[in-house]
Amino acid sequence: MQYDIKVTTTEHSRLDSVDFTNIPFGRVFSDHMFTADYQNGEWKNFQIIPFGHFSIHPACMGLHYGQCIFEGMKASRASDGTPFLFRPEEHAKRFNRSAARMCMPDFPEDLYVEAIQKLVYLDREWIPKEEGSALYLRPLMFANAEFFGVRPSDSYKMIIFTGPVGPYYAKPVSLIAEQHYVRAAMGGAGEAKAAGNYGAALLPAMKAQEQGYDQVLWLDAKEFKYTQEVGTMNIFFVVDGKVLTPATLGTILKGITRDSIMTILKEKGYEIEERRVSIDEIVEAYHAGKLQEAFGAGTAAVVAHVSRIKYGDLIMDLPPMEERHVGEMVKKEINGIRSGRLHDRHGWIVPIQQPQLV
Ligand code: COI
Repeated sequence: MQYDIKVTTTEHSRLDSVDFTNIPFGRVFSDHMFTADYQNGEWKNFQIIPFGHFSIHPACMGLHYGQCIFEGMKASRASDGTPFLFRPEEHAKRFNRSAARMCMPDFPEDLYVEAIQKLVYLDREWIPKEEGSALYLRPLMFANAEFFGVRPSDSYKMIIFTGPVGPYYAKPVSLIAEQHYVRAAMGGAGEAKAAGNYGAALLPAMKAQEQGYDQVLWLDAKEFKYTQEVGTMNIFFVVDGKVLTPATLGTILKGITRDSIMTILKEKGYEIEERRVSIDEIVEAYHAGKLQEAFGAGTAAVVAHVSRIKYGDLIMDLPPMEERHVGEMVKKEINGIRSGRLHDRHGWIVPIQQPQLV
């Protein structure tokens, strides 16, 4: 379906002011954004407008009670310049699963993809060319009814904005397996990409950083026994040639990069176990000299190698980078498919043809 998306282009592009050889993650924003409003039970006012501030009422419910969800996606371009998206429909579906958990309205999946296609096409010159860099896309929905009471909002704002990014982590990350704070319990909202999940993780992450570590490796909320995910990524371990990743049983974000990596690993003949992975099992493997690799996976980070894991008093230093064959292979595959250098065997790439910009 073609939606009526009104486009107003900027008269002052900021493109020339960007140094594409040195892009910090998350600080540079492209020229345009998409916005829509949910009012009286329907989505309306579809528009692409110059990127900028907007005003908010102090009683905006999303600020008070946390009805706020988002996605992280990437657009890149082929050597002939064609811009494309990576698995946009999967992101649209996950966005709506998050919306359902947070009692927010569905956003039509075809509109989600169409809006992104138009926006990215308009700002296609903002897509960095270097492999490993991309145009990061941030779809965001929040409650904006003006009301003090606690109930689901009846109006919402949808915004999609973008910005060129380089790698999220410039070097391998060190982790502390967290034994005090929890990210998500069964029955909670851990599977949703809800803003509050990230807010509640900031203090533990800051405490980990005070001890010289980059991020937290979350353990389950009941026994502090089973690994869940890392601050901004899903987690994979390579033990004795086998790849292990925690099963997404309700507390873990169903990562699209995670899913892509599992597909690539299966295709390459790796033995993969998606199940509960206890921290004791990882410690045991480490002592037996069988913990070969660990890496995080996410849209922003793509693949981030783990250099060290601290659990209680035990510090597990993982093998050096030269031995990270599995993580490096999947990173190259994902980046290669995303840059158009490798054949897209799975139909993950959606090229953006010139849309009608109404
Ligand atoms: C992503 O990987 O895209 C994320 O959303 C994680 C983080 C940057 C919040």
